[in-house]
Amino acid sequence: MKLIQVQDYQEMSQKAAEIVIEKIKENPQIQLGLATGGTPEGFYNRLIADHKENHTSYKQVKSFNLDEYIGLSSTNPNSYHYYMADTFFNHIDINQEDTNLPNGTAENIQEECSRYDEMIDKMGGIDLQILGIGQNGHIGFNEPGTSFASKTQVVDLAQSTIEANARYFDSIDEVPTQAVTMGIASIMKSKEIVLLVSGVAKAKALKQLIDGELTEEFPASILKKHHNVTIIADQEALSEYASKSDSTLRG
Ligand code: F6R
Repeated sequence: MKLIQVQDYQEMSQKAAEIVIEKIKENPQIQLGLATGGTPEGFYNRLIADHKENHTSYKQVKSFNLDEYIGLSSTNPNSYHYYMADTFFNHIDINQEDTNLPNGTAENIQEECSRYDEMIDKMGGIDLQILGIGQNGHIGFNEPGTSFASKTQVVDLAQSTIEANARYFDSIDEVPTQAVTMGIASIMKSKEIVLLVSGVAKAKALKQLIDGELTEEFPASILKKHHNVTIIADQEALSEYASKSDSTLRG
């Protein structure tokens, strides 16, 4: 894993956007894996600004999101379908039909999980996956204890995840307790991964990712086994980790 240390949230967002814009230039048909949540908002804002100023085009780009809440339809403002449209897709020139998220309201949710993995495989896989990390080390919504071999699946959200995400809902009782998420093995198939980590709330998780052991109790630890992971972390997130220079971390 490669670690890029930046000052703050703005610099993290800028750096991530630069990487993605560069990749789109190299490959206008790139297949992007995308995340939701607070962490990538600044990153999406910068991609939108660049699209407006420099006309970087997403016309041939395809996207695949990590996860969606069970039971929330795309018109629900708390759904990740809505988040992606509102935060990113509606502001760039990507074709709606080239954007993919798991359907959390599918009648047969198991079938939906297999469909999602098969579709990604059939389309040639994800070239570049953007990830955030939960305070408990989750990636996607793969909570501690998830098998490293997991494919797209239905998961029960950890209480800490429900509490962390309650900020987006009117009350904690409205936060769905289940989600459909790309599995760990599905995420690991991505050719390249960029993990964004910002804020003091993530400091313990980042230290554990860098210094801790490989264990299903800390899902993000699997990233040590991927051959092309870049972590972009700001000073607050790095506050529990002491190294001063950018580095390649042990696998
Ligand atoms: C979002 C996702 C999650 C988040 C993580 C961090 O699609 O899969 O793993 O990346 O929960 O969320 P924030 O960025 O809100 O701290």
